[in-house]
Amino acid sequence: MRVAALVLAAGRGERFGAPIPKAFLPLDGRPLVVRAIEALAARPEVERIVPVLPAADLERFAALAPDVAGAEKLAPPVAGGAERQDSMRAGLAALPAEIEWVAVHDAARPLVRPEDVGRVLAAAARTGAALLAVPVRDTLKRVREGRVAETLARAECWAAQTPQVFRAALLREALAKAEAEGFQGTDDAQLVERLGAAVEIVEGDPANLKVTWPEDLVLAEAIWRQRR
Ligand code: CTP
Ligand code: MG
Repeated sequence: MRVAALVLAAGRGERFGAPIPKAFLPLDGRPLVVRAIEALAARPEVERIVPVLPAADLERFAALAPDVAGAEKLAPPVAGGAERQDSMRAGLAALPAEIEWVAVHDAARPLVRPEDVGRVLAAAARTGAALLAVPVRDTLKRVREGRVAETLARAECWAAQTPQVFRAALLREALAKAEAEGFQGTDDAQLVERLGAAVEIVEGDPANLKVTWPEDLVLAEAIWRQRR
């Protein structure tokens, strides 16, 4: 299986509220985007990694790149867009046509374990599309205007993580359909689901959290240090 990974790092990190883009915040001394790249580069199946960065930060990344473990797998970084889906499109467009498998990963998830990356790659190889996810811990309520409209069956609810892995042609088709219909997804798998294609869930690690708010980075640091 020959895989290219897109590491999406082009967000501003508005909820985090730091003066620098979130992907450049350090986790135990190294930027989140570097930690995320290194976790993917540890997998032999992943032969190429395309970082997608804010247009204004391509040079900031170029200064880091030589120190990345697995730097030989790094493709030239590309500039992302206004929405995450735009950044995914930019990364996908930078891949050579012969790439058969694409793994899309959030730079804001620096704690993904290489073994979980391997498991989601293997699942995608069977079905064409797979993502890491964890069962939700809380009961989910669908709410409208401050009132509960519905309580979802918790046993059926999973929280989607990344990487999400797809046959490249399937992801390209899903993106084209979404764009033709003006649809913005909150993850990549959702676009593929809209084609009616099967998407396999692989139970991941709750520690593969997305650094969204400042307290998430505190927690991520604690998990990182405990693992070492
Ligand atoms: N992302 C991206 N391009 C965008 C928006 C998001 O590449 N236009 C990336 C982020 O860099 C992040 C991942 O998608 O690694 C998940 O997005 P999120 O956690 O929402 O990050 P931000 O959009 O940066 O944060 P916020 O929504 O708080 O501004
Ligand atoms: Mg965002």
